[in-house]
Amino acid sequence: MDIKEAIRERHSVRQYTPDHIMGDVRTSLETLIQECNRESGLNIQLITDDPECFDTLLGHYGNFTGVNNYIALVGSKKLKDLDELAGYYGEKIVLEAQMLGLNTCWVAGTYGKGKCKAHVDSGEKIVCVISIGYGATNGTSHRSKELSKLCGVSEKDMPSWFKEGVEAALLAPTAMNQQKFFIDLKGEEAVIKANFGPLTKLDLGIVRYNFEAASGHKCKAN
Ligand SMILES: Cc1cc2nc3c(=O)[nH]c(=O)nc-3n(C[C@H](O)[C@H](O)[C@H](O)COP(=O)(O)O)c2cc1C
Repeated sequence: MDIKEAIRERHSVRQYTPDHIMGDVRTSLETLIQECNRESGLNIQLITDDPECFDTLLGHYGNFTGVNNYIALVGSKKLKDLDELAGYYGEKIVLEAQMLGLNTCWVAGTYGKGKCKAHVDSGEKIVCVISIGYGATNGTSHRSKELSKLCGVSEKDMPSWFKEGVEAALLAPTAMNQQKFFIDLKGEEAVIKANFGPLTKLDLGIVRYNFEAASGHKCKAN
């Protein structure tokens, strides 16, 4: 599976089998997390075999079952654009997980915040978590807003790389499927901005990663 297939096949999965994340799969995931931390300055952590974090009222409310593993997106509150960085690197890990045969779900609200086992130093915070494991299903596609609501360029005027990027952006997960972003072409450069609202900066990083991974071009956030 390549990254474009991973983008197409990734859907939120909230029910997991008891299978453990082991061997080469685990090593690949941990190596990528270390690389992301080195590059970003974040303190992303993989927590495995801990059923407590989602075995809470909120976890049940969110319809999560069998969640034994999660990734905590932790970072210094002093980091400029902490939410956007967490979104960007979190999505990089989510897509790698998909390619490794795992399933995921971004979770900002419906988990037990007090039960999260991540190490959070003073001055740091947990931006959100991502449940991860072998899904009981592969999930289903989300409904998407119309292209014209999310992008300033009509399909016929798009360079092929930009079209690939926008298609991947529309497939990106966003909180409550809100898709509060807008992508445009300024000269030769793709630019993305977040609309106003909760978690939109986190979404911005996620969508920007999808765009860049599929198009092979940088997308500037403004
Ligand atoms: C930043 C963020 C936070 C999210 N928080 C939650 C959550 O608390 N509970 C939940 O069940 N889903 C959560 N989701 C999953 C979204 O509902 C889901 O990504 C969206 O509906 C699109 O569906 P898809 O991921 O299957 O494409 C979150 C997604 C994102 C990107």
